[in-house]
Amino acid sequence: MSTDVTSTDEWRALAAHAEQARALRLRAEFERDPKRPERLSAQAGDLFVDYSKNLVTDETIELLTALARRVGLADRIAAMFAGEHINTSEDRAVLHTALRLPRSAELVVDGQDVVADVHAVLDRMGDFAERVRSGDWRGHTGEKIRTVVNIGIGGSDLGPVMAYEALAPWRDAGIACRFISNIDPTDLSQTLADLDPASTLFVVASKTFSTLETLTNARQARAWLLSGLGDDPAAVAKHFVAVSTNAKLVGEFGIDTDNMFGFWDWVGGRYSFDSAVGLSLMLAIGRDAFGEMLAGFHVVDEHFRTTPIEQNVPALLGLLNVWYNNFLGAQTHAVLPYSQLLHRFPAYLQQLTMESNGKSVTRDGEPVTYQTGEVFWGEPGTNGQHAFYQLIHQGTKLIPADFIGFSEPNYELDEMHDAFMANFFAQTAALAFGRTAAEVEATGVGADVVPHKVMPGNHPTTSILAPKLTPATLGQLVALYEHVTFTEGTIWGIDSFDQWGVELGKEMAKQLAPLLAGEPGDTDPSTAALIARYRTQRGR
Ligand code: F6P
Repeated sequence: MSTDVTSTDEWRALAAHAEQARALRLRAEFERDPKRPERLSAQAGDLFVDYSKNLVTDETIELLTALARRVGLADRIAAMFAGEHINTSEDRAVLHTALRLPRSAELVVDGQDVVADVHAVLDRMGDFAERVRSGDWRGHTGEKIRTVVNIGIGGSDLGPVMAYEALAPWRDAGIACRFISNIDPTDLSQTLADLDPASTLFVVASKTFSTLETLTNARQARAWLLSGLGDDPAAVAKHFVAVSTNAKLVGEFGIDTDNMFGFWDWVGGRYSFDSAVGLSLMLAIGRDAFGEMLAGFHVVDEHFRTTPIEQNVPALLGLLNVWYNNFLGAQTHAVLPYSQLLHRFPAYLQQLTMESNGKSVTRDGEPVTYQTGEVFWGEPGTNGQHAFYQLIHQGTKLIPADFIGFSEPNYELDEMHDAFMANFFAQTAALAFGRTAAEVEATGVGADVVPHKVMPGNHPTTSILAPKLTPATLGQLVALYEHVTFTEGTIWGIDSFDQWGVELGKEMAKQLAPLLAGEPGDTDPSTAALIARYRTQRGR
């Protein structure tokens, strides 16, 4: 059985230090030490990270890095990259980092030449993407493909959508993607309403190929396609491809396995959009831009794998999150991208972080005695400023926030971009330094209004600034958060790569479905009454 991390000297030292740290004032710290940003900043690839506006001193960082050493973070990183079975509850390797290894790399895991396999699939994806993008691959009636509809959910949806939106300026072949995820029939109905089946290609993405939502939507989509194309079953082969680890179920569904793009059980769903799960994205942006994105991932992977903890950006940010979560009592964490292109990034991060670290037993199955996974949330700036920032500025809760910004705009409206990014810098400064009562009084407002206008400041933020949002920087950003999540999970001693918590609800939905149709079945009184009301309202 592993040691409870809270009983280590390193944890106790942090707990004692947290008592003093509560008195820390960012204004005073910056006045005393203007060179603070030089020390409390680091770089990973193109991502410059200033963490000086956090509630930390040099001692905090020393204590946090000591904790990382105590739990063997460096060894855990090495174990992940080497393909050890660190997903213990499923007895699997965790090798999303292998998805972005260059062709020249070498990695054999469990007898599998991982690099050769990854590149064989990438090559097939690239060839297929070129055929579709060039118009060589045509629909059943000879039409060029104009719309790709990705059907998938969770990791088979959130990553592809997020990246498709983020890389909008790289969509260059006149192919638009749409995404169907929810089993709510609204999603499918609205998405297909104005599409022409003759020019629509479906990518059915499911690691297991057994997910109820995805298979239900895929069956409906097939029926829609066939009814639009004269009910000729031969049409399916030209309009349906699959992305999965499960060739048997793909075949049973009726998709030719020649039109299947595979991946492996060592790629977790939420870590998968850089595998074949990114096929719809590749169809929109092309194999070269997709390759640039993979190269970006790899830059941060190498940084994480080789950099000492003191300068290791994902490790430092993960440790800061542990600091707020476990020692200063924060419950949530805001992620605020100053890029409209990243408008789905917070939703993507929610699955990455919360499905990974929402655990309450250690890898040995012992109940944890401390808080684990943070609640991540956010919206792009400046929309968030006009919605929930008030609570961050003047509310009573501690909410550490990551600000993500880019120096160069993606569209040539330079002055507008300056005005936009001025908000990024202003918000982080206002959150850190606030406005005192004396400063408010000096503006001449009435004494009764002064307390309402005082800005306490001292709200922690981390600024992540990159030159420009590109496929490469997107890859770097995602790898950064993957490894932040890994670092947190390592400190907490949990398995960040399983997700058993979502299974029970899935099983129960299957059990309850017949009851909605009026068949007998057991359930609790509250659920039984709700189903009865539902049936009445459906006129059953
Ligand atoms: O229910 C959770 C989950 O298993 C996620 O982890 C996964 O990303 C999603 O469902 C979809 O799974 P699949 O790709 O197998 O359809």
